[in-house]
Amino acid sequence: MSEASPPPVDGPAADGPLLVADDLIAGYVPGVDILTGCSLTLEHGQLVGIIGPNGAGKSTLIKALFGLVDIRSGEVRLRDEPITDLPAHALVSRGIGYVPQVANVFPSLTVSENLEMGLFLRSKEWAQRFAFVAGLFPLLADRRAQRAGSLSGGERQMVAMGRALMMEPSVLFLDEPSAGLSPANQDEVFDRIREINTEAGISIVMVEQNARRCLEIADRGYVLDQGANAYEGTGHELLEDPKVIELYLGTLARQDG
Ligand SMILES: Nc1ncnc2c1ncn2[C@@H]1O[C@H](COP(=O)(O)OP(=O)(O)OP(=O)(O)O)[C@@H](O)[C@H]1O
Ligand SMILES: [Mg+2]
Repeated sequence: MSEASPPPVDGPAADGPLLVADDLIAGYVPGVDILTGCSLTLEHGQLVGIIGPNGAGKSTLIKALFGLVDIRSGEVRLRDEPITDLPAHALVSRGIGYVPQVANVFPSLTVSENLEMGLFLRSKEWAQRFAFVAGLFPLLADRRAQRAGSLSGGERQMVAMGRALMMEPSVLFLDEPSAGLSPANQDEVFDRIREINTEAGISIVMVEQNARRCLEIADRGYVLDQGANAYEGTGHELLEDPKVIELYLGTLARQDG
């Protein structure tokens, strides 16, 4: 009942989930596992939210899904095909976009140059993709000649998301898109993310420090703690779960104002 109805799907194998991560163990340094058993399922057209304390492994999970952290055990499947060991560029070709938590724009490049960087495999589609991204973020068209480094935090976040959208992904991984933004800019970013999901039909996995806001717009949520799944459910189930409120939403909820 709290499941939102999914928008149009994006290709074959629409029956099964779009993306599945099963019991991932992963880490950066030999012998040190950061993820100690993470699983998640992203259905076509849905938005999955991942919350949890600092250092829980949220960014590591996204990076592992995107081929940037060594997966030691477990499996990732996209449209029921294994993608566990594929490098990031191969995942981009398969329709995955990633917006990192930090350093997600090229500050010395202009807005339009940043967007061109996002289109590295398909430069002939510039005009069409730019129009699509500018439709979502009109500000980027207005500021296309401005250096990204001189934009505000919220504007830079739009450039970063715009760049990931240039490749026409069917799945977008967002790592803390609202971090460091003013409340007004956070609202703007959450609205745009919802639009990208429901109107453009792009499935999303989003990590957020702003846990309450994240779960409010998520079809499904996961609480990660110490590298493993702690709780999962629909966004609304987690928002109403007394344990989740006590352990993970109490203090984080303050920043909602
Ligand atoms: N490049 C790295 N090399 C070694 N260890 C790392 C690296 N990046 C992260 N870690 C470690 O992995 C653990 C999980 O970090 P991660 O960045 O995934 O947490 P997070 O849940 O995203 O935290 P935050 O909410 O602060 O962004 C931390 O102990 C961190 O120190
Ligand atoms: Mg992080």
